[in-house]
Amino acid sequence: MKKDSKSLYYKDYLKLDELLSSQSPRSKELGKEAHDETLFIIVHQVYELWFKLFLHELDFILKLFREKEVDESNIGRGVESLNRILEIQQLSIRQIRLLETMTALNFLEFRDLLFPASGFQSVQFRMIENKLGLDENMRLKYGSSSYKMPLAKPDASEVTKTEKEPSLFKLVEAWLERTPFLEFKNFFFWDQYSEAVNNMLAEDKRHISENPNLSADEKTFHLKEYASTEANFEAILNEDAHHVLVREGHRRLSHKATQAALLIFLYRDHPILHLPFKFLSKLIDLDESLTAWRQQHALLAQRMIGTKIGTGGTTGNVYLSKAAETHKVFTDFANLSTYLIPRSALPDLPENIVKNLGFYYSPESDES
Ligand code: HEM
Repeated sequence: MKKDSKSLYYKDYLKLDELLSSQSPRSKELGKEAHDETLFIIVHQVYELWFKLFLHELDFILKLFREKEVDESNIGRGVESLNRILEIQQLSIRQIRLLETMTALNFLEFRDLLFPASGFQSVQFRMIENKLGLDENMRLKYGSSSYKMPLAKPDASEVTKTEKEPSLFKLVEAWLERTPFLEFKNFFFWDQYSEAVNNMLAEDKRHISENPNLSADEKTFHLKEYASTEANFEAILNEDAHHVLVREGHRRLSHKATQAALLIFLYRDHPILHLPFKFLSKLIDLDESLTAWRQQHALLAQRMIGTKIGTGGTTGNVYLSKAAETHKVFTDFANLSTYLIPRSALPDLPENIVKNLGFYYSPESDES
């Protein structure tokens, strides 16, 4: 279609003139263009666009969870946005392959021109981490300084702002703590769950001690092994023990939120808990995908620069691999599987909960 003064024109709408003239290889400016620098720039720019969309969706989810009452439709929309974020993450991981079509030798043609710039200075990446809930005390140190040290002042203050906002982790924790049906009329989830666990543990131990196919030594061995399962459950059944683990940094999620998350995981088959379960599962997916990206990126760095330090001044591949191992936000949700018990050992939810409750239900409105 021909452009006239009134109609919208493709190139103007997408601001293609600005977008397509935003690639300025340093090597070209210095008079000896390295062919692969254009690939390097475009791949980074596309990443920043995906980060922008990631933040757009993440801000939407944060807004939903800042509401006092988070109802099913909020959770449904949150799941949709998380799905989109997960797809962005899959693209981000695959995109590394494109950059790997550049050889280490070709990278050397322009790498020295990049110092001290590095992806370490990506403001949007830091904002994503902070908005998800990667607190400063969970991060590896940049030498002996903060991760914000290499940022220009205005960028550092923008990142600091995101440290101060309630993160997705904190908002989801608060939402879980408000779950109404942990204690409902004659149903006390935690008492019922604890009883079910204790019965299950006693039954398992009995199976070992009374198993005629095991020798005395084998029984002692298996019972000793079983003690670690008991210790695992003790760490969650005993609220004070859980508080100590949180204080010492071994756990993050409060005991109340852990109870609620466990209830959702255990009773996920009930339609009212299905969406909350999906939402929490997608948070685990998100963390996993971010870890997968970090691992792939560490491998990319190793392949491109071996054991050299990074242009941003970290230990390079060593730093990146360690960050992949430790920079995780929703670990406590993934670890909930430790505390799942078989459906057959689970107490039934009372009929009035199953029938009447929505996830945002307030007990005052119950008339049954
Ligand atoms: C030749 C390709 C690449 C190499 C050799 C490389 C290398 C590195 C290294 C060594 C670091 C650690 C900081 C430093 O000392 O510089 C780093 C950090 C980072 N890079 Fe890359 N990188 C490459 C491509 C990319 C791409 C395409 C992106 C996409 C935006 C990216 C994003 C990041 C981010 C976000 C960090 C900070 C990670 C963190 O602190 O956990 N890098 N990179």
